[in-house]
Amino acid sequence: MENQEKKRILSMYQCTGTFTLGNYLGALRNHIKLQEEGYDCVYALADLHALTVRQVPAGLRKYTKEAYAWLLAMGLDLEKTVFFIQSQVPQHSQLAWILNCYTQFGELSRMTQFKDKSAKHADNINAGLFTYPCLMAADILLYQADYVPVGADQKQHVEIARDIAERFNGIYGGTFTVPEPMIPKHGARVMSLQNPLSKMSKSDENQNGNISVLDDPDTIMRKFKRAKTDSGSEVRFGEGKEGVNNLMGIYAAVTGKSYEEIEREFAGKGYGEFKPAVAEAVIAELRPIQERYRQIVADKAFLEETYRAQAPRAQAIAQRTLSRVMKKVGLVI
Ligand code: TRP
Repeated sequence: MENQEKKRILSMYQCTGTFTLGNYLGALRNHIKLQEEGYDCVYALADLHALTVRQVPAGLRKYTKEAYAWLLAMGLDLEKTVFFIQSQVPQHSQLAWILNCYTQFGELSRMTQFKDKSAKHADNINAGLFTYPCLMAADILLYQADYVPVGADQKQHVEIARDIAERFNGIYGGTFTVPEPMIPKHGARVMSLQNPLSKMSKSDENQNGNISVLDDPDTIMRKFKRAKTDSGSEVRFGEGKEGVNNLMGIYAAVTGKSYEEIEREFAGKGYGEFKPAVAEAVIAELRPIQERYRQIVADKAFLEETYRAQAPRAQAIAQRTLSRVMKKVGLVI
């Protein structure tokens, strides 16, 4: 195990579409803050994971570059943080293969995401979908990560990464840091604006339910004005008011106001005033990032140079772990 002074955080993002407001408020914004909080951050775009579901090739490439530019626009600092594209660091695939051989069929069959995704994509239940957690374990273990910030849906994958690490360490002696899931302090869980019982998602069929981080102000305003609420009119957090609760959560996350403050601010005002106020706050939050984003994507050469330069940085870290693993299991290095 490596002797690092700072605790290492590792996170990766799938880039199969434009990030949503949910990705932004629930994860990305908090992860970017962690670089200022004394952690050693390693972040990447999980394009290999994206292949477990059939992608349009040009689309995947486009979304990957856009996602890269978006994180830079948010202020990801390459002096502090390593930020690369997974497929440009071949050690991920190499370690994933080895970990496949240390993971049981039964364990992988119990993964809820596998069960959900194979029900959803019944015509393409490929081996990659099944061994997805081994690739994710490789992502984490290669960098000897201490913490992996994840939402509830990925917690089981961090747990299996821990199990694999402990099993391997048990057989061969200390090799991997056993990672811990990190549940972010301020991680907002943003729900669909059209169906506040399900999470906001880029794959939502109803595009009015999700706000993309690249939506223009008029689109954001229109989507918030159409957001599903309930038959009441009081801006108050409560049971049966999932739509309003979600809007309050978004407003709170963006403005930093507490629910009590929001209730006071909109006392007697109704949804008709609250919805556009949430939209305005979101527009103001995204505007400066969208401006920087547009400058970055316009400079293709800069963007390409930047992500290419990150791959060797990641490879250097990853190879140390991979070489150790190869030696331990008996491969010739
Ligand atoms: N599976 C994660 C998701 O869909 C993405 C991911 C891939 C990841 N590798 C990772 C997250 C390693 C954390 C750590 O959101």
